[in-house]
Amino acid sequence: MHVQVRDLSKHFGSFHAVKNVSFDIEKGHLIGLLGPSGGGKTSILRMLAGLESPDSGQISFHGRVVNDIPPQERGIGFVFQNYALFKHMTVYDNIAFGLKVKKVPKSKIKDKVMELVELTGLSGFERRYPHQLSGGQRQRVAFARALAPEPQLLLLDEPFAAIDAKIRQELRSWLRDLIERVGITSIFVTHDQDEAIEVADEIMIINEGRVEQKGTPWDIYKEPSTPFVATFIGESTMVEDASALKGFDAVGSGTQTRALIRPEYIEIGRDGDFPILSATEKGIVRHMHFRGSEWLIEIEVGGHKLVTYRSLEKETLQVGQEVRVLVHRAYLFNDTDNWIEENRLKVDPMPIII
Ligand SMILES: Nc1ncnc2c1ncn2[C@@H]1O[C@H](COP(=O)(O)OP(=O)(O)OP(=O)(O)O)[C@@H](O)[C@H]1O
Ligand SMILES: [Mg+2]
Repeated sequence: MHVQVRDLSKHFGSFHAVKNVSFDIEKGHLIGLLGPSGGGKTSILRMLAGLESPDSGQISFHGRVVNDIPPQERGIGFVFQNYALFKHMTVYDNIAFGLKVKKVPKSKIKDKVMELVELTGLSGFERRYPHQLSGGQRQRVAFARALAPEPQLLLLDEPFAAIDAKIRQELRSWLRDLIERVGITSIFVTHDQDEAIEVADEIMIINEGRVEQKGTPWDIYKEPSTPFVATFIGESTMVEDASALKGFDAVGSGTQTRALIRPEYIEIGRDGDFPILSATEKGIVRHMHFRGSEWLIEIEVGGHKLVTYRSLEKETLQVGQEVRVLVHRAYLFNDTDNWIEENRLKVDPMPIII
């Protein structure tokens, strides 16, 4: 189902929770909503589902305005963070619930439930009660129950938030597969960047009731359209005055220009590693965090703490060690503009041989 939202607005009392939000979702796409707590993500989902009515704006499914259509007629499946299953019902009955309400014939219900049990990997668990399942299994029952009435749109509000990291990782790829197989248009809310990046076709960053940016995860990382997005996505360091950095001293004459430094914009080494030493800064290694597949290193440069990654294959650094730091690129912004700039003093890096 194609979803179109135009100028959606919502107040709770005098508080403006959702501010003129507009977006489209292509049929069959999975879109991730990402943003700080209180930004308005759940409020947007609730309006789509018809559980909350907007002050103004339009919601259309398949080109048909649904603002006045009651929730049960919108064809929506919902999975929440702690989607309470019916405790006194078996897995089978939980999944069958929506179909029984709709008075679907018993034999059809059986076929549908068995199909979903298979699809969600719950075969053999049909007669169990929720308390006899793990958290991940329970959440899969919640998915099956939401999918049973064959909704056209699936709304997922932090469905894995209460599940531990390892199982969560498994559920992510399971969800991706499931949604691809069923081909259902879906919206997935999460606090977890990695989760959004891994699961979604497109990401929408929501902050203070507005859409800050919408695009593929890679586009958003590569070309953040606002300083908020730049700092929110990926690990990075903000330097309040870009001209304090070697090679960026000529930028933004007049207005204050801030620089956001991504980990991959930084190279560290010894004096002899850099052909143009004047493009580099002196730094001191302050912290080293072992990340399993690499080091995350914090380096202090002229009072700023820069963060970068280092391969395990390279010489291991020591906390307190002096190093040379080349900031070869920065994401710059002032009050009116934002852009990416290269360090003007560095020589071109070695060609990358693939
Ligand atoms: N029924 C309500 N009455 C009053 N204020 C509300 C109501 N529902 C939400 N809000 C407020 O609207 C704002 C947006 O809330 P919402 O639940 O949409 O945020 P969210 O992005 O889902 O946050 P989180 O990531 O913490 O779940 C918050 O400031 C919240 O306190
Ligand atoms: Mg929420």
